[in-house]
Amino acid sequence: METILITGANRGIGLELVRGFASSGRHVIACCRQPAEAGDLQSLAEERDNVEVHALDVGDPSSVAALAGVVGDRSIDVLINNAGIAGPSFQHQGLADMDYEGWAETFAINTMAPLRVLQTLRASLANGANPRVVTITSQMGAIGLDMPVMFAYCSSKGAVNKVMRLAAPELKREGITVALLHPGFVQTDMGGPGAEITPEASAQGLISVIDGLTLDDSPCFKTWEGNDHVW
Ligand SMILES: NC(=O)c1ccc[n+]([C@@H]2O[C@H](COP(=O)([O-])OP(=O)(O)OC[C@H]3O[C@@H](n4cnc5c(N)ncnc54)[C@H](OP(=O)(O)O)[C@@H]3O)[C@@H](O)[C@H]2O)c1
Repeated sequence: METILITGANRGIGLELVRGFASSGRHVIACCRQPAEAGDLQSLAEERDNVEVHALDVGDPSSVAALAGVVGDRSIDVLINNAGIAGPSFQHQGLADMDYEGWAETFAINTMAPLRVLQTLRASLANGANPRVVTITSQMGAIGLDMPVMFAYCSSKGAVNKVMRLAAPELKREGITVALLHPGFVQTDMGGPGAEITPEASAQGLISVIDGLTLDDSPCFKTWEGNDHVW
């Protein structure tokens, strides 16, 4: 049985990824900042014995280090770096007005944390049959797509794309596939109710893309529908 580790698993796309992978028989290590507050995720874990819930604040190095103890000597087949933040309020992340502290925090969570989690789980990934590290990025991080809004968020996603591309060649030699996936414009707390697709639809699409990834794809930037995305 494959083991999937997901960050930011308590709500939004992360929660639906847990639900989708668990219902298709995979074992899910679902990580979130505050397990005691994660009602929906806890209910899922009570219904299913293939879902376990653990505390993880991806912005806290000691919390990420503790993840190694949670995983122990188990193999991780898929690491999904899903946790993310939108950054400072819309009007405070642009040319006229930038909240620099908020930008730094956005980088810490969206760009640096995925690498830190990957470093922590690298040995566990290398043990799997078809190990994949998947980072939920955004079309807004594509250099080739001009959306002149949300400078902090867009730059943090563009940077994580680059970081994962940089890591890909060395990981490929260890058999680990690197993928950056755009989940669509999704009706979550981040995307808002007016977004285009439900978290369930996004997660189902992402799962089928993740299931189809092989080392030949690495590194890739794809959409939740499986189309190649411009870098
Ligand atoms: N929604 C969209 O349209 C859209 C589009 C493109 C990309 N994305 C990306 O998709 C991913 C999921 O987004 P979403 O739409 O599901 O957003 P969401 O509903 O706002 O959920 C964000 C998740 O990230 C977690 N998180 C934030 N900071 C964290 C930290 N320091 N440690 C651990 N977990 C943390 C949140 O946990 P708490 O509950 O503890 O805050 C929550 O579980 C993000 O990477 C986002 O950038 C979303």
